[in-house]
Amino acid sequence: MQIIHTPLEMQECAMGLKRAGKVIGFVPTMGFLHEGHLSLMRIAREQCDVLVVSIFVNPTQFGPNEDLDAYPRDFKRDEALCREAKVDFLFYPEPTNMYADNASVWVEEESLSSVLCGASRPGHFRGVCTVVAKLFNLVQPDLAVFGEKDAQQLRIIERMVRDLNFPVEIVRGPIVRESDGLAMSSRNKYLSPEQRKNAICLRKALDAATRMFRKGEHNVEPIRSVMEEMISAVPEVRIDYIEFVDEQTLCMVNRIDRPVLVAIAVRVGSTRLIDNGVLGSMSGAHKVAVKNAL
Ligand code: PAF
Repeated sequence: MQIIHTPLEMQECAMGLKRAGKVIGFVPTMGFLHEGHLSLMRIAREQCDVLVVSIFVNPTQFGPNEDLDAYPRDFKRDEALCREAKVDFLFYPEPTNMYADNASVWVEEESLSSVLCGASRPGHFRGVCTVVAKLFNLVQPDLAVFGEKDAQQLRIIERMVRDLNFPVEIVRGPIVRESDGLAMSSRNKYLSPEQRKNAICLRKALDAATRMFRKGEHNVEPIRSVMEEMISAVPEVRIDYIEFVDEQTLCMVNRIDRPVLVAIAVRVGSTRLIDNGVLGSMSGAHKVAVKNAL
């Protein structure tokens, strides 16, 4: 595995690989890797000749009062995991190399970004779209794998790729969960043992929604109120949102009469966690997840 530190070196390397006719698979990350990231790497690995992973804690997607400085980092461990995952190139740039001091061009998605986490974290998706566009220009992937856990991010990246004609296929990677159902996230590390136990309420609420839907409840409000009640009863957990949105357009719905994304964001203590599931007709990955939940 070769570690690349500068954007120019990354781009030159990618151009050489393209000239040699290699299929480049890409998994962008912010590091502190866990099984969720490794599963995305496995998905990419199966479909490419050369696997590139980036580790970059992107400052532009953090708000002024968010956890940029505290965001967990452990490059040595990440490097070892990437070697084990048979990554070919690990792109690990410095923030000063990624953004010019007077950088003034941004990529902003204006529709899907206005709801859910976009409403709670102004500017977040502008930072994500900008850095992902830059990474695509540097890595020149044929395919890039993004996790379903960040469902809104995934839809926005798909939209960006469509609207700006990036020549890259976006592949969706299913959510990977701990054995008790908590979705894997680098931020789980912030949780105290007590908070860690309490955080399972997200998955339990999603499972309750699935059961109600399966029993024939297709109106959103009764399902949402059960979920709210379950989560509110758990100590130290505060709901940011529980939303039911069209799986593609992210528009709010009142009835589950199409594939609907049930998206949750909470704070457990001061840690923000998100989770989601899809109700209605579902993709293969979602079907398996729901089957496991029942
Ligand atoms: O999902 C993430 O880890 C980040 O938002 C991403 C896609 C690497 C962009 O910084």
